[in-house]
Amino acid sequence: MNRSIVQQNLAGPLYDAWLGYLSGAYSRKGATSQAVPAWAKRIYAIEKHEVISTALEELTQGLERLFGEKPITVLSGTDLADKQASHDPGIWIGTWAGNSLLAEAFSESERTAVHGEGFVIREDEELGRLFIGAETPQGVLYGTFHLLRELVLAQGSSSEADTSPNKWSHVIEQPRNALRMINQWDNVDGSIERGYAGRSIFYENGEFTQDIVRIRDYARLLASTGINAISINNVNVHQRETLFLTERFLSDVARVASAFRAYGIRLYLSANYASPMEIGGLLTADPLDEQVREWWNIQTAKVYAAIPDFGGYLIKADSENRPGPFTYNRDHADGANMLAEALRPFGGLVIWRCFVYNCKQDWRDRSTDRARAAYDHFKPLDGRFADNVILQIKNGPMDFQVREAVSPLFGAMEKTNQVLEFQITQEYTGQQRHLCYLIPQWKEVLDFDTYAKGQGSEVKCIADGSLYNRPHSGFAAVSNIGADTCWTGHPLAQANLYGYGRLAWNPELSSEEIADEWVRLTFGHDEEVVRLISGMLLDSLDIYENYTAPLGVGWMVNPDHHYGPNVDGYEYSKWGTYHFADCKGIGVDRTVQSGTGYTSQYHKENAERYENVTTCPDELLLFFHHVPYTHVLHSGKTVIQHIYDTHFKGAEQAQALAETWRKLEGKVDPEIFETVALRQDNQAEHAKEWRDMINTYFYRKSGIEDEQGRTIY
Ligand code: GCU
Repeated sequence: MNRSIVQQNLAGPLYDAWLGYLSGAYSRKGATSQAVPAWAKRIYAIEKHEVISTALEELTQGLERLFGEKPITVLSGTDLADKQASHDPGIWIGTWAGNSLLAEAFSESERTAVHGEGFVIREDEELGRLFIGAETPQGVLYGTFHLLRELVLAQGSSSEADTSPNKWSHVIEQPRNALRMINQWDNVDGSIERGYAGRSIFYENGEFTQDIVRIRDYARLLASTGINAISINNVNVHQRETLFLTERFLSDVARVASAFRAYGIRLYLSANYASPMEIGGLLTADPLDEQVREWWNIQTAKVYAAIPDFGGYLIKADSENRPGPFTYNRDHADGANMLAEALRPFGGLVIWRCFVYNCKQDWRDRSTDRARAAYDHFKPLDGRFADNVILQIKNGPMDFQVREAVSPLFGAMEKTNQVLEFQITQEYTGQQRHLCYLIPQWKEVLDFDTYAKGQGSEVKCIADGSLYNRPHSGFAAVSNIGADTCWTGHPLAQANLYGYGRLAWNPELSSEEIADEWVRLTFGHDEEVVRLISGMLLDSLDIYENYTAPLGVGWMVNPDHHYGPNVDGYEYSKWGTYHFADCKGIGVDRTVQSGTGYTSQYHKENAERYENVTTCPDELLLFFHHVPYTHVLHSGKTVIQHIYDTHFKGAEQAQALAETWRKLEGKVDPEIFETVALRQDNQAEHAKEWRDMINTYFYRKSGIEDEQGRTIY
């Protein structure tokens, strides 16, 4: 393949994101110079497989950039390769089955330690050889990206941060999660639902874009973090996108699928549950109707004829006005199993979302609780879903708030495949105008102990399928990218995309490790740069939480677009998202004793902890309880004083973030510097707006003075 991987400055700095080591666009300040290792001069890749070719391309260009010398590649298993193989130093990449030398290079225990997409890297220092071996070509690609990443990180290893040089010289890695998926919420008109980084890279004006290069560059960014699946259209499947399953668009879909295939990523489509009616001319979409089932069977076969490795359908049904089986008095198992049957012959999956709730609630009705909905709908169906159905469950029971409880569906369904859904795009967390590094939030979710099988039943063990030994499981997340020059609007929001992939591969990585990796890969090893940017990232979630909705109650945003403060924005709406503030107190009573009974959806340990106002953690107090403003938190402060203090503090912290960034002038690319500086200044201003709206609202409601007498309006 002749195509150069790196589209040099195609769209400005940070286009290559954390793979910037290839573009040479950044000064690797603080980097220690590395001698060219003997093995880096020659690459043996004798297998003919598209993904191995990708790995070879990446490795060739990566090593050239890193060491200034292009390695020679040996591509065939001819005499030459064999001869060279027996004497020369070099890197061997390949699968056990496809390359006998690799099979021999690793011990049996190394080979059996990994399977599927895992890999082993081993250096033979004496002979100057390095081996990257795996069971599958994808494993080889992940091993390649791993090596390149570790080599870049090792450039900074003279720093205290890294006391183990040559971390790459013997590595055994196995992804914890089988499915590591990205969901695009892109529409064919080129818009992106909840997109904050420009228009779609996939579509424009009702057609697929012709810019396959950009899509391929996205694929490589994703693959470099370990992503192996993508759905390419919005879960709200509108009229024209419904046609993606038909001849009208299938060749376009196939073209995109092949761009992802080269990077080991499998393509899925969001499908419209009512397709048989909307495009099939049938009068019903009843999942038990023979004609409907047949329609899906035939249509699915056509999809596979165009894309033999098609992943399957992602479905949002009976949710926010989308069609679904409820219309026919059928349940979600009936709906999902019908599609499962159509996909089964081809090995495809149905990924069925659990974001199902009544979005036409009467705000006067205090008995309906949106937080209860997913559990109430799906728990009774445990055991009824076909084995190629996976339920996709949002991390929280509401909707990607900066703070909410963990969904009680995790740990509630032992006979059902489950995937955990995060939102990388910052719909409720500052829309990529505010800095909000989300990894710490996701870590809390992953480490949450559900007690489903006693202590140690963390969400991460449910997401990875191990707790219930499920055949399918993993992570999915809503992407945060668009056609922006730096992909993500706010350049530092790239850290969330990177971190998502890394966590999906290994949920044990810490927020600090991920931040450190990302900053070094993106900006180089200047210790001051690393310290300041990592610090900004790691503080940002708490800061955002400080100046927005307090103590887990959520929302308080402007309706529809969800940006900016509006305390009562959703208070008298149909969406089921209330805070119930009056002159005496605030919060949602979700207890069994006096509220909606939501707490009973958790296993005993958590149910009791949340039910009792004295054991409920402060940060979720208003998610679970309605309390007076004078209620004293574990922190010793009253609720009202906590609101005032955190909002004054949050606005100051946002200001400090902007000032910290200013210290980086001259140390990062000027264009990136300006883009971030502008956003941080806006965030600082906007945080004041949040502070003043929230404080004023609660001061006026409660009539209680701030102990410190600060300005409230
Ligand atoms: C949120 C979001 C919608 C989206 C929905 C979903 O409610 O605001 O835009 O469609 O989540 O996850 O389906």
